[in-house]
Parts: sequence; C-alpha cells; structure tokens
Amino acid sequence: MSTTENVRIAPPEGKLGILTPGMGAVATTFLAGVEAVRRGLGLPIGSLTQLATIRLGKRTDNRSPMIKDFVPLASLDDLVFAGWDIYEDDAYQTAVKAGVLDRPLLDQLKDHLSAIRPMKAVFDHDYVRLIDGPNVKQGASKMEKTEMLMDDIAAFRKNTGVARTIMLWCGSTEVFHRPAAVHQSLAEFEKGLAANDPEISPSQMYAYAALKSGVPFANGAPNLTTEVPALLELARDRQLPIAGKDFKTGQTFMKTLLAPGLKARMLGVRGWYSTNILGNRDGEVLEDPGSFKSKEETKLSVLGTIFQPELYPMLYKDLYHLVRINYYPPRGDAKEGWDNIDIFGWLGYPMQIKIDFLCRDSILAAPVALDIVLFLDLAQRAGMRGIQEWMSFYFKAPLTAPGLYPEHDIFIQLMKLKNTLRWMRGEDLITHLGLEYYD
Ligand SMILES: NC(=O)c1ccc[n+]([C@@H]2O[C@H](COP(=O)([O-])OP(=O)(O)OC[C@H]3O[C@@H](n4cnc5c(N)ncnc54)[C@H](O)[C@@H]3O)[C@@H](O)[C@H]2O)c1
Repeated sequence: MSTTENVRIAPPEGKLGILTPGMGAVATTFLAGVEAVRRGLGLPIGSLTQLATIRLGKRTDNRSPMIKDFVPLASLDDLVFAGWDIYEDDAYQTAVKAGVLDRPLLDQLKDHLSAIRPMKAVFDHDYVRLIDGPNVKQGASKMEKTEMLMDDIAAFRKNTGVARTIMLWCGSTEVFHRPAAVHQSLAEFEKGLAANDPEISPSQMYAYAALKSGVPFANGAPNLTTEVPALLELARDRQLPIAGKDFKTGQTFMKTLLAPGLKARMLGVRGWYSTNILGNRDGEVLEDPGSFKSKEETKLSVLGTIFQPELYPMLYKDLYHLVRINYYPPRGDAKEGWDNIDIFGWLGYPMQIKIDFLCRDSILAAPVALDIVLFLDLAQRAGMRGIQEWMSFYFKAPLTAPGLYPEHDIFIQLMKLKNTLRWMRGEDLITHLGLEYYD
C-alpha cells in the first residue's frame, strides 16, 4: 500500500469463480461472451472494466489510465463459471435456445459451453409461477436445501481451485414480497429456514448460502433478496460486499439518461408512458402479475428521485408514470421499449418526446454482469463490506443504507463510481470545479 491509498487492496491472485443462480439468457450471454473475448472472437463492448479510462489529476496532467490498469481487477482469463438452473440444458444448449448470440459463434465455443452444466436448483413455484423444470433439489426444510447450496459452493471451490468466488443472481424475477418478521434478524431468519417459513425466497436461500460461505453476492433481478436486516447483518458480520438490484440495461437506462437532462434545464414533465414487448423466458415469467409487480416497482422508482417533486412541485408534482411489459414471443430477446414523454416548457407550453429503443436485452446485460462481478471482487479484496452504493450505476433500484434515498441519475452514479476508485487509490477526487485553471 502506498502512503496515499485509503484502502489496502489484495492482489487478484489465482482464479475467480463466478456462480450464477439462474443460467438463462443473461448468464449464458455473459459467460459465452467472456469466452469469445478470451479467444479474440469479439470485443467486450459496454464494459467499463474492460474499455473505460479514468481521468486522474488536473485536465492538463494528461493522466487517463484504463480503469483495469488503475485498480487491480481479475483478468478475464482467470474467470471460472458455474451455476444452478431448474433446467438440465448445458450452457451451449441454453444459449442456442435463447437465440441471443449467433449459432456460428456458439458453435466455435461449443466445447467450452457444453462443459458448463447447471447444478440442481433450489426452486419454489410460489416465487416463480409460470415455469417449471426437473433439475431441482429435494430436501425436508429450507435449511437443508440451503446447506446443499453451501456444499455445492464448497465442491466448486475444491474442484476448480478458485481463489475467490462471487455469486450473481441471474435467475427469474421472483414475485413481489415485502420484508416480513422472519427477515428482521439473522437469528429469526435461521429459525425460519429450519421452519420452512414461506416468506423466505429461493434467492434469499442462495444469498444466505453465499454469505455464509464467504462469497459476496449481487442481485441482477428486482426481487427482494439481501436488502433485509437479516442478510445485511450477515454481510457485515462476514465482512462481505453486496450489491443490487435489477440490472439497469434498456428502458430504465434510457430514462436515467434523459430525465436528469430535462430536470437540469428545469423542463416540466406531465406524463411518462413506457411500454415494452419482449419474447424471451424473462418476458414469459413477467406475465405473472406477482413477478411483474417486482419489476414494476424497480422501474417506477427512478423518476421520483430524479425529479424530486417535493422540491419542484410546479414541474413534477402530478407526473403520471406508467410502465407496461407484454410478452410477445416472436421478438425473443430483441426487446422493443417505447416511451412517450409529455413535457412542458416556457409558460407551460406542451411538447412530446418519443423513444423507440430496439434493443437486445442480454447484449446490454452481459457487460453489466461482468463489471458487477469484477468490481464486487475488487471491493472484497479492498475490505469493503455491506452495501456497495458506488455500484448504483449498474442497477435500476440501487441498494442504499436504510433511510437514504438512492441516486438514480446515471451521471452522478458514474461520478460516484469513478471517485470511489480514485479514493481507493488515494487520488484527488474530481469535483469539476475547475477554478484553478483560471487563477
Ligand atoms: N437486460 C436484461 O436482460 C435484464 C435487465 C434487468 C434484469 N434482468 C433480470 O435478470 C434475470 C435473468 O434474465 P434472463 O433474460 O436471463 O432470464 P431467463 O428466463 O433466460 O433466465 C433465468 C433463468 O433462471 C432460472 N431460474 C428461475 N428460478 C431459479 C432458481 N430458484 N434457481 C436457479 N435457477 C432459477 C430459470 O429457469 C431461467 O433459466 C431476470 O430476473 C431478469 O428480469 C434482465
């Protein structure tokens, strides 16, 4: 550690294991993509850890190293993947069915992908209602099944020899639940696992198994998982970082780009109507109103905190915000997200903005997943525990300390992320004040 660094960061020695509960479209696009990049078959577009630079010092200093050269990140060559799913298909078969990456590319990676077979999942039909699969653990209690997950983690470590492991939930969106009595302390949670408390979800069983095994956990979906006192307590006790939730990729990414700009210019917004069509398995699961409600909550949450209607009632008080998702199989993973935004300007005169984002869900999510696991591993090696708010940049509903509102503005999130990296390495934080250039 140099004299200026604020944290001691252990070097990323050895292999980094990445465990994904859920090995569907996002997880397979992520792991196939990493292998394609390793073999020189494609570029990691969309990933800050692989492509972005970070400015250090003054604008006149000309110091802008790559982020990956500035902070010690695990190399793509050191990543080892495994995961769980309720289906038995290996990663090659799943990727072919998901239809995100082209068949010729997948065929070049077939040897690697077909060796990745999902472990038996912990699944509960009450939490994901519209799909079912055979690759599921049987056990007398939730505690017993959670212990099986811990055994899986231990076996993975032993068989691969990984030095560190990260878990990233890439499973389906579970139905909406609020924190219950069983979530209020670790002791209650453990009693609840033994007593099969219906308020404990599978994603929480994976998170508990991860944290108990010393594995940092991040949530790529909107369901309630680690943001309850019991699991926050466990993460802190075990000195483990956690992050979430719900990858910010398509429509919400657009929203958090545009809304800060409208507010910056003090333009009013009367209505924001967002609708989506998508035809992948994620879309199928979101047909269930319980799962949709989880998604709706995270998608709706962003505008309130960006526009701050309590500070600007004349601009945003009565904003009507509606989000719809429709399952439309012909589109597969190629989602279409429409936004109609009714804004108003000088003297209240109305205007409209239309966005039609023809995106590819998993192509946007894969680099986000990569950055999340690499930064979470960095946080772990830097001894940073609990919620990693500086990773808000990647999430639709960033986790924050209780009582703190989340920051949704993507540009503030990016500044927070880069300043955290600067802080780690003892570099000056960049405030963009810039007065020194005019002294
Ligand atoms: N851009 C994006 O793609 C994006 C953005 C934000 C969030 N997400 C979320 O990421 C998650 C994954 O998306 P996807 O497109 O890969 O969906 P997907 O349906 O292709 O994959 C999810 C997989 O999870 C499995 N699964 C469900 N419950 C499980 C359990 N308890 N244990 C193990 N496996 C389980 C399913 O069988 C399925 O194969 C979804 O929750 C989605 O809402 C995706």
